Order: sequence, then C-alpha cells, then structure tokens
Amino acid sequence: MSEDFRSRVKLPEGFRFLREGDIKRPFRTGDKAMDKYALRDYYAWSLLPNELVVLYEVGGDIAGIIEMTANEDHMMIEMVARNILVAASGVGTRLMSVAENVARQLGKDEIRLESLDGVVAWYDGPLGYEEYTDRFYDPEFGWLTPKRKFMR
Ligand SMILES: CC(C)(COP(=O)(O)OP(=O)(O)OC[C@H]1O[C@@H](n2cnc3c(N)ncnc32)[C@H](O)[C@@H]1OP(=O)(O)O)[C@@H](O)C(=O)NCCC(=O)NCCS
Repeated sequence: MSEDFRSRVKLPEGFRFLREGDIKRPFRTGDKAMDKYALRDYYAWSLLPNELVVLYEVGGDIAGIIEMTANEDHMMIEMVARNILVAASGVGTRLMSVAENVARQLGKDEIRLESLDGVVAWYDGPLGYEEYTDRFYDPEFGWLTPKRKFMR
C-alpha cells in the first residue's frame, strides 16, 4: 500500500493501520485456516497496491484486524477477525463498520466478501449482507459464500 493511498483515509478513534512493529504481537482468530496466517503475513499484504490492513485496539491490545482491497467499483474484505487472546466485545461489528467508513472515503458504495460457512448468518444479520452468486469450494478455506452490500 502506498503512503499516498493510505493518506486518503482517515480512521476513527481506536483504529489504525498495521505497522511493521506489530508483526510479532500475539494474534489468533480461532479459525484453523485463518490462523495459518500471522500478523507478519498481514503486514506483507498491506504493502500491496490498493490494500489496507486496519487494526482495532482496546487498551493497547490488538482486539481485531481487517484487510481490504480497493477495487475499481467496490471494496473487497479479504480477511476480518477478532483476536481471541483479547477480551473485548463487538469487535467484528466495529471492524465491519470501519470497512464501510473506509469504502465511503474512497468513493465506493459496494462492499464484497467471501464468507466462511460458520459466519454466513453473522453477515446476514444486522450487518445486512446478501448472497449474490453461488457458494463455491476453496481448497484452503472450505465452502465460501460470496456476499455483498450496497451502501446508501
Ligand atoms: C466473525 C467474527 C469476526 C465476529 O466477530 P465478533 O467480535 O465475535 O462479533 P460481534 O461481537 O461484533 O458480534 C455481534 C453479534 O454477532 C453474533 N455472532 C458472532 N459470531 C457469529 C457467527 N459465527 N454466526 C452468527 N452470529 C454470530 C454474536 O452472537 C452477536 O450477536 P448478539 O449481538 O445478538 O449477541 C469473529 O467471530 C471471528 O473473528 N471469527 C473467526 C474468523 C472468521 O471467521 N472471520 C470471518 C471470515 S469470512
């Protein structure tokens, strides 16, 4: 992610971009496939063009993380997870709300993601995501359901 791209986004209080100095900090999602990746990997992804990795901090601890890619006409959420090593509530919902905030700042009115099987109901609830095409099998993450949301 270029500095220029990052400088176009102002994050709400409690959120900040992942930094190289974070990569050794403890982080675990509780999902076996997602936990193959550590903060070191998220940091490497954050250096790619159009990629943003945002942390949510509570009391100085990393409570959650979200990785997003800005595509031409939509924002794609690549990864979102709370840190099971840190006690905090409403982390996932806050991360999804920051994704909307960031998308708006970048002029996108649509967010897409591919949901793991165990969290489809979470996206369907108050978050308001809808399935827009068929579920498919991914060798690494299992069944994934493409979902999206248009923001007013
Ligand atoms: C999915 C995830 C990000 C949700 O974060 P969270 O901090 O637990 O969620 P919140 O506290 O914001 O959730 C609020 C509500 O969603 C519900 N919820 C949480 N996980 C859920 C799930 N898997 N399915 C259905 N509802 C769920 C909670 O019960 C809560 O409901 P309530 O307000 O009625 O009590 C988190 O469980 C996580 O990191 N999971 C492992 C990684 C993962 O699967 N990421 C998504 C990849 S597509």
